[in-house]
Amino acid sequence: MKIVIYDNAEQVAEQAANIICQTIKNKPKTVLGLATGRTPLKTYQHLIEKNKQGSVDFSQVSTFNLDEYLGVKPCSENGYRFYMDEHLFKHININLENTAVPCSDLDKINQTCLEYEQQIKLCGGIDLQLLGLGSNGHVGFNEPSSSFASRTRVVALAASTLSDNSELLTGEPQTFDKAISMGIATILDSKEIVIIALGKAKAQAVASAIEGALSASCPASCLQMHANVTWLLDQEASSLLTQKRYYQLSQKLLA
Ligand code: GLP
Repeated sequence: MKIVIYDNAEQVAEQAANIICQTIKNKPKTVLGLATGRTPLKTYQHLIEKNKQGSVDFSQVSTFNLDEYLGVKPCSENGYRFYMDEHLFKHININLENTAVPCSDLDKINQTCLEYEQQIKLCGGIDLQLLGLGSNGHVGFNEPSSSFASRTRVVALAASTLSDNSELLTGEPQTFDKAISMGIATILDSKEIVIIALGKAKAQAVASAIEGALSASCPASCLQMHANVTWLLDQEASSLLTQKRYYQLSQKLLA
Protein backbone atom coordinates (compact mmCIF):
# COMPACT_ATOMS: atom_id res chain seq x y z
CA MET A 1 0.00 0.00 0.00
CA LYS A 2 1.14 3.54 -0.73
CA ILE A 3 0.51 5.77 2.26
CA VAL A 4 0.77 9.46 1.45
CA ILE A 5 0.36 12.11 4.13
CA TYR A 6 -0.41 15.71 3.20
CA ASP A 7 -0.48 18.89 5.26
CA ASN A 8 -4.18 19.47 4.74
CA ALA A 9 -7.45 18.31 3.19
CA GLU A 10 -7.09 20.68 0.23
CA GLN A 11 -3.86 19.00 -0.89
CA VAL A 12 -5.43 15.56 -0.45
CA ALA A 13 -8.37 16.54 -2.66
CA GLU A 14 -6.06 17.96 -5.31
CA GLN A 15 -4.05 14.76 -5.41
CA ALA A 16 -7.15 12.53 -5.53
CA ALA A 17 -8.50 14.59 -8.44
CA ASN A 18 -5.13 14.41 -10.21
CA ILE A 19 -5.07 10.60 -9.94
CA ILE A 20 -8.62 10.35 -11.31
CA CYS A 21 -7.83 12.73 -14.21
CA GLN A 22 -4.64 10.89 -15.10
CA THR A 23 -6.54 7.59 -15.15
CA ILE A 24 -9.13 9.07 -17.52
CA LYS A 25 -6.42 10.54 -19.76
CA ASN A 26 -4.77 7.12 -20.01
CA LYS A 27 -8.11 5.40 -20.64
CA PRO A 28 -10.97 7.65 -21.82
CA LYS A 29 -13.48 4.82 -21.20
CA THR A 30 -12.48 4.54 -17.54
CA VAL A 31 -14.93 2.84 -15.18
CA LEU A 32 -14.89 4.73 -11.89
CA GLY A 33 -16.20 3.54 -8.54
CA LEU A 34 -17.45 6.55 -6.57
CA ALA A 35 -18.09 7.35 -2.92
CA THR A 36 -20.37 9.78 -1.12
CA GLY A 37 -20.17 11.47 2.30
CA ARG A 38 -18.24 14.60 3.28
CA THR A 39 -14.79 13.28 2.38
CA PRO A 40 -14.85 13.36 -1.45
CA LEU A 41 -16.68 16.71 -1.78
CA LYS A 42 -13.52 18.75 -2.39
CA THR A 43 -12.19 16.14 -4.78
CA TYR A 44 -15.41 16.46 -6.80
CA GLN A 45 -15.04 20.26 -6.81
CA HIS A 46 -11.55 19.87 -8.29
CA LEU A 47 -12.88 17.46 -10.93
CA ILE A 48 -15.58 19.99 -11.88
CA GLU A 49 -12.94 22.74 -12.19
CA LYS A 50 -10.67 20.58 -14.31
CA ASN A 51 -13.58 19.58 -16.55
CA LYS A 52 -14.53 23.25 -17.00
CA GLN A 53 -10.94 24.09 -17.88
CA GLY A 54 -10.99 21.30 -20.47
CA SER A 55 -8.24 19.27 -18.83
CA VAL A 56 -10.41 16.17 -18.31
CA ASP A 57 -13.16 14.73 -20.48
CA PHE A 58 -15.85 12.56 -18.84
CA SER A 59 -17.83 11.91 -22.04
CA GLN A 60 -16.82 8.24 -22.23
CA VAL A 61 -16.48 7.56 -18.50
CA SER A 62 -18.84 5.19 -16.64
CA THR A 63 -19.40 5.27 -12.89
CA PHE A 64 -20.72 2.94 -10.20
CA ASN A 65 -21.52 4.26 -6.74
CA LEU A 66 -20.69 2.20 -3.71
CA ASP A 67 -23.98 2.32 -1.89
CA GLU A 68 -27.45 3.78 -1.31
CA TYR A 69 -29.86 3.93 1.61
CA LEU A 70 -32.55 1.29 1.37
CA GLY A 71 -35.94 2.44 0.13
CA VAL A 72 -34.82 5.99 -0.63
CA LYS A 73 -36.32 7.55 -3.79
CA PRO A 74 -33.83 8.64 -6.48
CA CYS A 75 -35.10 12.23 -6.21
CA SER A 76 -34.84 12.35 -2.38
CA GLU A 77 -32.23 14.79 -1.17
CA ASN A 78 -31.16 12.17 1.39
CA GLY A 79 -30.26 9.77 -1.37
CA TYR A 80 -26.91 9.26 -3.03
CA ARG A 81 -28.27 9.70 -6.60
CA PHE A 82 -29.25 13.23 -5.55
CA TYR A 83 -25.85 13.74 -3.90
CA MET A 84 -23.96 12.62 -7.02
CA ASP A 85 -26.08 14.76 -9.34
CA GLU A 86 -25.67 17.84 -7.15
CA HIS A 87 -22.00 17.49 -6.29
CA LEU A 88 -20.60 16.12 -9.53
CA PHE A 89 -22.66 14.82 -12.44
CA LYS A 90 -24.69 18.00 -13.14
CA HIS A 91 -21.51 19.99 -13.52
CA ILE A 92 -19.41 17.77 -15.80
CA ASN A 93 -19.79 16.39 -19.32
CA ILE A 94 -20.68 12.87 -18.24
CA ASN A 95 -23.48 10.89 -19.94
CA LEU A 96 -25.97 10.32 -17.08
CA GLU A 97 -26.92 6.99 -18.65
CA ASN A 98 -23.44 5.79 -17.79
CA THR A 99 -23.76 6.63 -14.08
CA ALA A 100 -25.07 3.94 -11.75
CA VAL A 101 -26.18 4.29 -8.15
CA PRO A 102 -27.62 1.10 -6.64
CA CYS A 103 -31.39 1.15 -7.03
CA SER A 104 -32.79 0.67 -3.56
CA ASP A 105 -36.40 -0.20 -4.41
CA LEU A 106 -37.56 -2.84 -1.99
CA ASP A 107 -39.19 -4.94 -4.74
CA LYS A 108 -36.78 -7.56 -6.08
CA ILE A 109 -33.94 -6.19 -4.00
CA ASN A 110 -31.90 -9.42 -4.19
CA GLN A 111 -32.23 -9.41 -7.96
CA THR A 112 -31.08 -5.76 -7.98
CA CYS A 113 -27.95 -6.69 -6.01
CA LEU A 114 -27.07 -9.49 -8.45
CA GLU A 115 -27.68 -7.21 -11.42
CA TYR A 116 -25.40 -4.49 -9.97
CA GLU A 117 -22.55 -7.02 -9.82
CA GLN A 118 -23.32 -8.13 -13.39
CA GLN A 119 -23.44 -4.54 -14.67
CA ILE A 120 -19.98 -3.87 -13.23
CA LYS A 121 -18.63 -7.02 -14.90
CA LEU A 122 -20.26 -6.15 -18.23
CA CYS A 123 -18.45 -2.79 -18.18
CA GLY A 124 -15.15 -4.64 -17.78
CA GLY A 125 -14.80 -4.07 -14.02
CA ILE A 126 -13.93 -0.95 -12.04
CA ASP A 127 -10.64 0.64 -13.09
CA LEU A 128 -10.36 3.05 -10.19
CA GLN A 129 -12.39 2.90 -6.99
CA LEU A 130 -12.54 6.00 -4.80
CA LEU A 131 -13.27 5.26 -1.14
CA GLY A 132 -13.93 7.19 2.04
CA LEU A 133 -13.56 5.63 5.47
CA GLY A 134 -16.14 5.35 8.23
CA SER A 135 -15.00 6.27 11.74
CA ASN A 136 -15.66 2.60 12.62
CA GLY A 137 -13.47 1.40 9.72
CA HIS A 138 -16.27 0.76 7.21
CA VAL A 139 -15.80 1.08 3.46
CA GLY A 140 -18.94 1.60 1.39
CA PHE A 141 -21.50 0.49 3.96
CA ASN A 142 -19.57 -2.66 4.86
CA GLU A 143 -19.78 -2.37 8.61
CA PRO A 144 -17.55 -4.21 11.10
CA SER A 145 -18.19 -7.99 10.82
CA SER A 146 -18.70 -7.79 7.03
CA SER A 147 -17.18 -10.77 5.27
CA PHE A 148 -14.18 -10.12 3.06
CA ALA A 149 -15.99 -12.33 0.53
CA SER A 150 -19.14 -10.17 0.56
CA ARG A 151 -20.78 -8.94 -2.64
CA THR A 152 -23.44 -6.29 -3.28
CA ARG A 153 -26.20 -6.89 -0.75
CA VAL A 154 -28.56 -5.36 1.77
CA VAL A 155 -26.81 -4.35 5.00
CA ALA A 156 -27.84 -3.00 8.39
CA LEU A 157 -26.02 0.15 9.47
CA ALA A 158 -24.07 0.38 12.71
CA ALA A 159 -25.26 2.78 15.42
CA SER A 160 -22.04 4.81 15.03
CA THR A 161 -22.74 5.22 11.29
CA LEU A 162 -26.28 6.45 11.96
CA SER A 163 -24.91 9.02 14.35
CA ASP A 164 -21.98 10.04 12.07
CA ASN A 165 -24.33 10.51 9.11
CA SER A 166 -27.24 12.11 10.97
CA GLU A 167 -26.11 15.67 10.20
CA LEU A 168 -26.23 14.88 6.47
CA LEU A 169 -29.83 13.67 6.59
CA THR A 170 -33.13 15.47 6.83
CA GLY A 171 -35.68 13.48 8.83
CA GLU A 172 -35.24 10.79 11.45
CA PRO A 173 -31.76 9.18 11.20
CA GLN A 174 -33.34 5.90 12.41
CA THR A 175 -35.24 5.73 9.10
CA PHE A 176 -31.88 5.32 7.35
CA ASP A 177 -30.72 2.20 9.15
CA LYS A 178 -30.36 -0.11 6.13
CA ALA A 179 -28.62 0.21 2.80
CA ILE A 180 -27.57 -1.60 -0.33
CA SER A 181 -23.78 -1.70 -0.60
CA MET A 182 -21.12 -3.13 -2.85
CA GLY A 183 -19.41 -5.89 -0.87
CA ILE A 184 -15.79 -6.05 0.18
CA ALA A 185 -15.01 -8.61 -2.52
CA THR A 186 -16.65 -6.26 -5.07
CA ILE A 187 -14.39 -3.43 -3.92
CA LEU A 188 -11.30 -5.64 -3.95
CA ASP A 189 -12.01 -6.60 -7.58
CA SER A 190 -11.24 -3.00 -8.63
CA LYS A 191 -7.97 -2.64 -10.52
CA GLU A 192 -6.88 0.34 -8.43
CA ILE A 193 -8.17 1.85 -5.18
CA VAL A 194 -7.69 5.34 -3.77
CA ILE A 195 -8.92 5.82 -0.22
CA ILE A 196 -9.18 9.23 1.42
CA ALA A 197 -9.35 9.84 5.16
CA LEU A 198 -9.49 13.30 6.71
CA GLY A 199 -9.63 14.58 10.27
CA LYS A 200 -9.08 13.33 13.78
CA ALA A 201 -12.30 11.31 13.84
CA LYS A 202 -10.76 8.91 11.31
CA ALA A 203 -7.34 8.51 13.00
CA GLN A 204 -8.16 5.31 14.91
CA ALA A 205 -9.78 3.63 11.91
CA VAL A 206 -6.80 4.63 9.72
CA ALA A 207 -4.31 3.15 12.20
CA SER A 208 -6.30 -0.10 12.54
CA ALA A 209 -6.75 -0.45 8.78
CA ILE A 210 -3.10 0.20 7.87
CA GLU A 211 -1.15 -1.11 10.86
CA GLY A 212 -3.64 -3.44 12.54
CA ALA A 213 -4.43 -7.07 11.81
CA LEU A 214 -6.48 -8.15 8.85
CA SER A 215 -9.90 -8.36 10.48
CA ALA A 216 -13.61 -8.14 9.74
CA SER A 217 -13.74 -5.86 12.81
CA CYS A 218 -12.03 -3.22 10.69
CA PRO A 219 -13.42 -3.71 7.15
CA ALA A 220 -10.90 -1.28 5.61
CA SER A 221 -8.07 -3.61 6.71
CA CYS A 222 -9.15 -5.69 3.66
CA LEU A 223 -7.18 -3.20 1.56
CA GLN A 224 -3.97 -4.81 2.85
CA MET A 225 -4.79 -7.66 0.45
CA HIS A 226 -5.03 -5.44 -2.63
CA ALA A 227 -1.95 -4.86 -4.80
CA ASN A 228 -2.71 -1.30 -5.92
CA VAL A 229 -4.00 0.86 -3.08
CA THR A 230 -3.14 4.47 -2.27
CA TRP A 231 -4.11 6.02 1.05
CA LEU A 232 -4.37 9.83 0.91
CA LEU A 233 -4.37 11.25 4.44
CA ASP A 234 -4.21 14.63 6.10
CA GLN A 235 -2.09 15.18 9.22
CA GLU A 236 -4.95 14.56 11.65
CA ALA A 237 -6.12 11.33 10.06
CA SER A 238 -2.53 10.03 10.09
CA SER A 239 -1.87 11.06 13.69
CA LEU A 240 -2.06 7.55 15.22
CA LEU A 241 0.16 5.83 12.65
CA THR A 242 3.42 4.64 14.18
CA GLN A 243 5.48 4.15 10.98
CA LYS A 244 5.12 7.54 9.30
CA ARG A 245 8.83 7.94 8.64
CA TYR A 246 8.87 4.63 6.78
CA TYR A 247 5.87 5.63 4.63
CA GLN A 248 7.58 8.91 3.74
CA LEU A 249 10.83 7.14 2.80
CA SER A 250 8.90 4.65 0.66
CA GLN A 251 7.18 7.54 -1.11
CA LYS A 252 10.53 9.16 -1.91
CA LEU A 253 11.74 5.91 -3.43
CA LEU A 254 8.67 5.78 -5.67
CA ALA A 255 8.81 9.46 -6.66
C1 GLP B 1 -20.64 6.87 4.57
C2 GLP B 1 -20.58 6.18 3.19
C3 GLP B 1 -19.18 5.86 2.82
C4 GLP B 1 -18.33 7.04 3.24
C5 GLP B 1 -18.20 7.05 4.73
C6 GLP B 1 -17.50 8.25 5.33
O1 GLP B 1 -21.58 6.36 5.42
N1 GLP B 1 -21.37 5.03 3.01
O2 GLP B 1 -19.08 5.58 1.44
O3 GLP B 1 -17.05 6.93 2.68
O4 GLP B 1 -19.44 6.79 5.32
O5 GLP B 1 -18.34 9.36 5.38
P1 GLP B 1 -17.77 10.83 5.54
O6 GLP B 1 -16.93 11.08 4.36
O7 GLP B 1 -18.98 11.72 5.58
O8 GLP B 1 -16.98 10.85 6.80
